[in-house]
Amino acid sequence: MADDHTHVQEFFTARAMDWDARFPDDGPAFDEAVRSLGPRPGDTVLDAGCGTGRALPALRAAVGPRGTVVGVDLTAAMLESAVRAGRGREGALVLSDVARPPFGSQVFDAVLAAGLVSHLSRPGPDLAELARVVRPGGRLALFHPVGRAALAARHGRRLTDDDLRAEHNLRPLLACSGWRLDVYADEDERFLALAVRLP
Ligand SMILES: C[S@@+](CC[C@H](N)C(=O)[O-])C[C@H]1O[C@@H](n2cnc3c(N)ncnc32)[C@H](O)[C@@H]1O
Repeated sequence: MADDHTHVQEFFTARAMDWDARFPDDGPAFDEAVRSLGPRPGDTVLDAGCGTGRALPALRAAVGPRGTVVGVDLTAAMLESAVRAGRGREGALVLSDVARPPFGSQVFDAVLAAGLVSHLSRPGPDLAELARVVRPGGRLALFHPVGRAALAARHGRRLTDDDLRAEHNLRPLLACSGWRLDVYADEDERFLALAVRLP
C-alpha cells in the first residue's frame, strides 16, 4: 500500500512559494556540500527531496554538460518553484516518492539528500531504495545547512537521544540500508553525513 505523504505535501506546499527567500544565505553551504560529495565530470547524480532545486546548480557545475542531474520530490509545489527559479535548466525534475523512484538499479554515481531524512516515514527502507539506485562505491550525502542543535533551537525543541540523525542512530540505520557511514559532521553551520554504497 502506498505511504500517506499528505502531511509532508501540505507542509511544503504551504512553504514552496517563499522557500528560497527564507534561506537566502545557504548557497555557499550547498556548494560546499556538493564539493564534499565529490561528483566528477560526466557523472549521473540524484538530488533526493530536491524541493526548489537549490542544490541543482552546484550539482550541474560539478558534473558538467556531459553529466546527468536529476531532482526528485513528492511535493508538486516545490518542483513548480524550482521551475520558476530556472532550476529545470540544470537537470530533470521528477515528481516521485524517493521510496519508489522510477529508476533502474545502480544508475547513479552519487546522491545528495538535503533536509530529507527527518521527513521520511520509513527511513530504513527509503535509504535502502536510494542504495538500490546507486552503483556500489557510489556516495550519499545527507546534508542540512544548519546543525542538529541549531535546527532544534530554531523549532523550539530540544535534541533527544532518539534523534534519527544522531550518529549513534544514523550509523546502524545506514549500515542496515546498504551504506557505510564515512564522515559525520554536526556543527552549527552544517550537518553532513557522507556514506558509501556497500558492494
Ligand atoms: C526540508 S525540504 C528540503 C528541500 C531541498 N532539498 C532544500 O534543501 O532546499 C524537504 C523536501 O523533501 C521532500 N520530501 C519529503 N519526503 C519525501 C519523499 N518521501 N520523497 C520525495 N521527496 C520527499 C519534501 O517535499 C521537501 O521538498
